[in-house]
Amino acid sequence: MSSDPLLQPYKLKHLTLRNRIIVTSHEPAYPEDGMPKERYLAYTVERAKGGVAMTMTAGSAAVSKDSPPVFNNLLAYKDEIVPWIRQMTDAVHEEGAAIMIQLTHLGRRTRWDKGDWLPVVAPSHHREASHRAFPKKIEDWDIERIIKDFADAAERMKAGGMDGVELEAYGHLIDQFVSPLTNELDGPYGGSLDNRMRFCMDVFKAIRSRVGDDFILGVRYTADERLPGGTGMSEGIEISKRLKQSGLIDYLNVIRGHIDTDAGLTDVIPIQGMANAPHLDFAGEIRAATNFPTFHAAKIPDVATARHAIESGKVDMIGMTRAHMTDPHIVRKIIEKREDEIRPCVGANYCLDRIYQGGAAYCIHNAATGRELTMPHIVAKADSRKKVVIVGAGPAGLEAARVAGERGHEVVVFEAASDPGGQIRLTALSPRRKEMMSIIDWRMAQCEKHGVTIRFNAWAEAETIEAENPDVVIVATGGVAHTDVLSKGNEFVVSSWDIISGDAKPGTNVLIFDDAGDHAALQAAEFLAGAGAKVEIMTPDRSFSPEVMAMNLVPYMRSLQKLDVTFTVTYRLESVEKNGNQLIANVGSDYGGISKQRVVDQVVVNHGTIPLDDIYFELKPKSTNHGEISQDELIAGQPQSVVRNAQGQFQLFRIGDAVSARNTHAAIYDALRLAKDI
Ligand SMILES: Cc1cc2nc3c(=O)[nH]c(=O)nc-3n(C[C@H](O)[C@H](O)[C@H](O)COP(=O)(O)O)c2cc1C
Ligand code: SF4
Repeated sequence: MSSDPLLQPYKLKHLTLRNRIIVTSHEPAYPEDGMPKERYLAYTVERAKGGVAMTMTAGSAAVSKDSPPVFNNLLAYKDEIVPWIRQMTDAVHEEGAAIMIQLTHLGRRTRWDKGDWLPVVAPSHHREASHRAFPKKIEDWDIERIIKDFADAAERMKAGGMDGVELEAYGHLIDQFVSPLTNELDGPYGGSLDNRMRFCMDVFKAIRSRVGDDFILGVRYTADERLPGGTGMSEGIEISKRLKQSGLIDYLNVIRGHIDTDAGLTDVIPIQGMANAPHLDFAGEIRAATNFPTFHAAKIPDVATARHAIESGKVDMIGMTRAHMTDPHIVRKIIEKREDEIRPCVGANYCLDRIYQGGAAYCIHNAATGRELTMPHIVAKADSRKKVVIVGAGPAGLEAARVAGERGHEVVVFEAASDPGGQIRLTALSPRRKEMMSIIDWRMAQCEKHGVTIRFNAWAEAETIEAENPDVVIVATGGVAHTDVLSKGNEFVVSSWDIISGDAKPGTNVLIFDDAGDHAALQAAEFLAGAGAKVEIMTPDRSFSPEVMAMNLVPYMRSLQKLDVTFTVTYRLESVEKNGNQLIANVGSDYGGISKQRVVDQVVVNHGTIPLDDIYFELKPKSTNHGEISQDELIAGQPQSVVRNAQGQFQLFRIGDAVSARNTHAAIYDALRLAKDI
């Protein structure tokens, strides 16, 4: 048996967990009609197949109708959920993993204009900054109803074959009772710590009496809100002890922090550039103070840190949740001594930000996550070996090369630059975002493993490519910054890329016109203001940086507010004129009837990219398909069969930003779904 601390089994009451790695509760927003159907099932089972000890499914399934999901969660208050849960638990158990589910009532952390349009309830009228609903102050009959709802939901989960349930007690209703900041009740449920914990205890009592002893109960709770007037560390330790002493639960799952603001949430679930394992020592203190089974997750992205968490005795089970969204097969790779092949989580939080803004959670660089029904995590070998030539070694080109290599094809990549990475290399120039380079480094290592040849400093002409005698050519040349968007004065502006790359010297008084709304404008602002410039970011949109999304915005704001960068929304830069050493920026508005000027010494335009597509159009007439991709075949997961030119020499495809400006995930998804069927 292995001596690896991570691979030691753990006995949690009657349950034997096969190792020490868990996936903590997270809602990927895959439910259909509030039920975990085929897509949810496939996602969950993939992680069980990958070897994880236990998966905590759902991000807090809702126990009551007045806890409507704000994005897309499971509805544990419906009886019809039981067979769906049973299908999932059976499949996960079959793979040797345990499975639990997190239950919650969101309290004020939701909205009244969702679900059945019921008022939201909380132990005070204070609204939560993130979700904005002004709550009704909860009444005695609400409390009785919700306690019963919890017990009913737990009973459903047991009937569905779950090994246990975990209650969500940070930021949601249970914690809103516990925290002095959100509880303004008198009497049995407000005031003293005993009273504030009464709701939590009553819920556990009701559940335990319903589900019996042979069912795991746990709580994920904040033991230190890190807010003035909130639950502090010493009270948190007292809460932890009381939870243990209640005899009602089987483990503690420790959180440190608060989630009522985007910034608070980001400190609880840290993003790239923030420290790894920031709350692990704290979880260790709780374990030492309680001597009770302790779980924890918060940016443990790599196996070495996870191993340290267990080996040092800080926790009993360690969560690697986003890490499993990036690579569901972590444990299997540890067992097979292939740790170096684990696809690394780069902390981009595209997964999390998307559940609010874009619907389902996707991993920035694993396009198979959440698409297990159609996309493979392990690519199958092709029936016959082809010669595949790829132009460009950015994320799209390297993903295509990795997948084609894994399929057993002979793959040659031409890259004009001396290094791989394309736009990601620029992104990673921000110290806070350098983890992004792992997206490239992992693909380079995989390409090497699969015998892919990469030629750097190689500007591919049509003849170079034809000389390779390819069966398939994939153009993944990306794009270049597009600044030609003004009615006059385009020659006076620079791009956000010019600033980030250092090709343009920072000005002292700078206007950034951002109508792409993505990272590049903020990144350029950080470079400029960091170099001492006064910076204004102007956008014609209703809000700034709409593509950056909530948690990704937090580190930028923490940096840009200190640097005094200002934001102006709903104004459009129309033209620029030169006036001596200065530039006059003429500003209008899509709403009409306004004309203003700014006098600055530098104007930066951030307007996405235009495709670098010369090589594609040169090759097009020589290809069998004239570059056409059958969308039906692509979506159905079938090989491309378009023939428009029987005399053509090869199939030609174009992917990523070489088609149109999108994002890293889109580029990688383009590549995976095309190359997996070549
Ligand atoms: C898409 C997504 C949804 C999440 N939803 C929940 C949730 O509903 N309840 C919860 O307790 N944690 C939720 N989390 C937080 C995770 O359980 C975990 O604490 C967090 O991702 C930090 O751990 P990690 O660094 O290992 O990913 C969510 C995380 C993700 C990525
Ligand atoms: S999107 Fe980023 S944070 Fe989320 S799982 Fe993927 S790599 Fe990790």
